[in-house]
Amino acid sequence: MPVTDVLRAKVRAELPEVEEITNPELHEKVIEAWATALDGSSFGAISEIRPSGNPDTPPLKRGTQTDHIRGVTRLAMRISDELTEMFPELKVDRDLLIACALCHDVGKPWEFDPENQARWRGSPRAAGRPSIRHPAYGVHICLTVGLPEEVAHVAGAHSGEGELIVRSLENTIVHHADYAFWRVLDAGGLLDHADKG
Ligand SMILES: [Fe+2]
Repeated sequence: MPVTDVLRAKVRAELPEVEEITNPELHEKVIEAWATALDGSSFGAISEIRPSGNPDTPPLKRGTQTDHIRGVTRLAMRISDELTEMFPELKVDRDLLIACALCHDVGKPWEFDPENQARWRGSPRAAGRPSIRHPAYGVHICLTVGLPEEVAHVAGAHSGEGELIVRSLENTIVHHADYAFWRVLDAGGLLDHADKG
């Protein structure tokens, strides 16, 4: 099904940080990536996706997956802004960093889709369980919509897959922002450990 302007507008409203990307092409492709990922799933919005790092890890007690994507993006921007103020020789591409942070979990509509989850649970030896984790599916989405390889790299290697390779500067920031989001909120008692997914 072709991606509609209604869906694009919904993504734009869910991710206001996209307005901080000054490059218009990069800006539009971030919207296109999320709209394409949602369109290929049973979700109608990012906020409908279980608010957790993985389908079976503790979700937020309060808040949505949108809060996660926005939180990681805002943390990544702060890490970059603070450190580049102290060390101007640290060359972070801010536009790219925001696009990377906003797209790091763009594969989640696939991996978290209840229909896919039920299919994989029912027959784990057919296509695997899951067949493809959100990082690999995120790479597929990023490259399909024409995002640069730097963004696809972050989608694919922000998580455990990144331990097998060398992370870029922007990916290192997003990786730590992502882990900080979950670990700090967990330490503060904001994750629901009774919910096993
Ligand atoms: Fe994440």
